[in-house]
Amino acid sequence: MIKPHGSNQLTPLYVQDDARRAQLLKDAEGLPSLLVSSAAAANAVMMGGGYFNPLTGYMDLADALSVAENMHTTKGLFWPVPIVNMVKSPPPAGAKRIALRDPNVEGNPVIAIQDVEKAEAVSEDQLGHMVEKIFRTQDPKHPGVAAFTSVGRTLVSGPIVVLSHSYFATDFPSTYRTAYQIRAEMEKLGWQKVVAFQTRNPMHRAHEELCRMAHKDVGADGILIHMLLGKLKPGDIPADVRDAAIRTMVDLYFPKGTVLITGYGFDMLYAGPREAVLHAVFRQNTGCTHLIVGRDHAGVGSYYGPFDAQAIFDREVPKGALAIQIYKADNTAWSKKLGRVVMMRDAPDHKPEDFINLSGTKVREMLSKGEDLPPEFSRPECAKILMKYYQSLPQ
Ligand code: ADX
Repeated sequence: MIKPHGSNQLTPLYVQDDARRAQLLKDAEGLPSLLVSSAAAANAVMMGGGYFNPLTGYMDLADALSVAENMHTTKGLFWPVPIVNMVKSPPPAGAKRIALRDPNVEGNPVIAIQDVEKAEAVSEDQLGHMVEKIFRTQDPKHPGVAAFTSVGRTLVSGPIVVLSHSYFATDFPSTYRTAYQIRAEMEKLGWQKVVAFQTRNPMHRAHEELCRMAHKDVGADGILIHMLLGKLKPGDIPADVRDAAIRTMVDLYFPKGTVLITGYGFDMLYAGPREAVLHAVFRQNTGCTHLIVGRDHAGVGSYYGPFDAQAIFDREVPKGALAIQIYKADNTAWSKKLGRVVMMRDAPDHKPEDFINLSGTKVREMLSKGEDLPPEFSRPECAKILMKYYQSLPQ
């Protein structure tokens, strides 16, 4: 199986031994505690699950700045996005060990214990520079920029042990998986070559076909559908609805035993190219050999060019930095001429009007009004689930 990023073995930070975890949770009650941001909690969940291997905790300011600047830590580890714990009020002076509390679960239970190495003030200049590098914009209307700049200006760094998977394991028991669980599952299935499909949306026919094309083109043993289960911007479709639609699609339209439907606990950054690289890192950690990157991967609005998230792998990711390979997909849609879903690069004689393409806004509008989506765009069984959701929203 493909090696994890940065080490030979995956070293997840979640304490898997029940007795030791219970003891640490007990210890945590006696420690000073810090309510962390949703982003920092999600970072803990990702480190807990082995997704962010080989990180051992939150980065310090020098590493965060270096990663933002050139995608390497000060020690030279390739890493695309700062993994930080930024807070509004610093931990009590002199506190060496603190309990991090989860903002997303009622009662704010302890999610991790952190050894505090440093608590550093981040200047506006430093923050602006990081934001520009990660998001390629400092526009406060960008949802990722807004989230990154709203969490405080004190960066608390140091190693952690993770004691909970937050709400992900409880709210999505059949879908949430850690990277080590996915590795184990794929090993059991005997999958060596695996294509990962990142998604934060329900899967329409173009997505379905992208998975099928990638599976065939790389000669993969299986497809890992890996959906984001964390926070999204307003207007995006909630995870439980997406999950139901995706399960229906796989059930009805994929041969049994070829797809694993899974999810991970992270808030969407909408960082386009940089997030695509992060996606590649953590899919390598799940044991996948390929990641599909299509049009406007992890993008939002018009902040990124449609294929910037592919170009970054050629232009900025050093050769050999990652073992996972990128399956670059062109714009994909139903061809009226050919009567099937195609990648536009494979249909050079087509004009735009030869394809059936619906924008996200149009899809929402149609479903809210109770209008059926064309079957060439969306499988009717999946569209039904989405329509039920849109019809339940206040009009
Ligand atoms: S993302 O933010 O998670 O990237 P989404 O769930 O919409 O958003 O996309 C999942 C993957 O499918 C991404 O790699 C994206 O680039 C790709 N994709 C989505 N729609 C298309 C399309 N019509 N043509 C090509 N690639 C697409």
